[in-house]
Amino acid sequence: MIQFADIPGRSLPLFTVAGRRVRLLDDADAPALQRLFDRSGDYFDLLEGRPAGPGAARDELREGPPERVPHDLFALGIDGGQGELAGYIGALRHHRRPDQWYLGFLLLDPAWRGRGIGSTAYWAFQHWIQTQGAQSLLLAVLADNLRGHRFWRSLGFGSPRSYPARQIGLKRHVLIEYEKDLRV
Ligand SMILES: CC(C)(COP(=O)(O)OP(=O)(O)OC[C@H]1O[C@@H](n2cnc3c(N)ncnc32)[C@H](O)[C@@H]1OP(=O)(O)O)[C@@H](O)C(=O)NCCC(=O)NCCS
Repeated sequence: MIQFADIPGRSLPLFTVAGRRVRLLDDADAPALQRLFDRSGDYFDLLEGRPAGPGAARDELREGPPERVPHDLFALGIDGGQGELAGYIGALRHHRRPDQWYLGFLLLDPAWRGRGIGSTAYWAFQHWIQTQGAQSLLLAVLADNLRGHRFWRSLGFGSPRSYPARQIGLKRHVLIEYEKDLRV
């Protein structure tokens, strides 16, 4: 059985991204996460064909397989200053095996995009989960998120597998799952 390092409490930063603290979010952070979702309407439009619903952030902080919530669900916020979030990382550990993580969400405030911060956030996250024993990371990209595919491939993700179409909000999507082997 893999032993995971202790995860610090809510107020302690887990790591930093471009000098910004990244910490675990909880229910009290739902309003700030919802504001980030509201500012990221372009992504929700691509994902669901509509803006983020009013309870999207609260659901995101609680959602997941019931036997896994909350201890395997990691909702990480990148501090944007003045009570706002510059970005969000949602992940699940022990995904299909104890040493496998699933990255469900990487989202930056539109004002923070296009300056390399997304890539920096990914590498900091990867480094942090490696310190927690991760050897494999999975994620899924919407088939029609072409920039998303370029982004993840540039970060070393491969072995794409296609899944049957499913309904997300108002849209029907094919999802492509990628995996990265973190042992190399
Ligand atoms: C994806 C994302 C985290 C990248 O962060 P970033 O700081 O903008 O990216 P970087 O500056 O490090 O790298 C630029 C690359 O990111 C990707 N990218 C940029 N904007 C993007 C967008 N709106 N959607 C998807 N990918 C994007 C592209 O691959 C881009 O390279 P390109 O300019 O050659 O197309 C950020 O753009 C974002 O939050 N997008 C919306 C949410 C999203 O699509 N998340 C990924 C779901 S699979």
